[in-house]
Amino acid sequence: MAISKSMAEALNKQFNEELGSAYLYESMAADFYSKNLPGLANWMTAQATEERTHAQKIHHYLDENDERVFYAALSEPQAAWETPLEAFMAALAHEKYITKCIHDLVRKSRKEDDIATEIFLSWYVTEQIEEETSAQSMIDKLKMVGGYEMGLYQLDKEASRRRE
Ligand SMILES: [Fe+2]
Ligand SMILES: [Fe+2]
Repeated sequence: MAISKSMAEALNKQFNEELGSAYLYESMAADFYSKNLPGLANWMTAQATEERTHAQKIHHYLDENDERVFYAALSEPQAAWETPLEAFMAALAHEKYITKCIHDLVRKSRKEDDIATEIFLSWYVTEQIEEETSAQSMIDKLKMVGGYEMGLYQLDKEASRRRE
């Protein structure tokens, strides 16, 4: 059973949301690089790479359903954040927004009795829990560090180890 046109459109919108997420995190990485925080920049670059895999999974799902993706214009992301804490708080707020988008898609699939898409989306539901948790844990650490440069230096070093 094929997916509905409106489901294809909604998934295509999510495809672009995922690319938009990558764009936002690349912008945060650029901000961190410019502030001599290469570890936090690395963390954001890894996050952006992950977002592109989220987009690719949707791409693949649409292909399998004889639909295709369309690339939308991405809006210009914010370029700088006052502190690393503010950047990660913005990242968490963004992830909460994405979680809502995913949940809306699940509700749509239920309304259409589209069981295949509902199951496809379940991966994203679980993934969003992880996404919010990882942003939250960076926020917790940054709050612990407070204004101490030594702590920020250590946290930056820790973040430099993130690979995926
Ligand atoms: Fe994502
Ligand atoms: Fe995400």
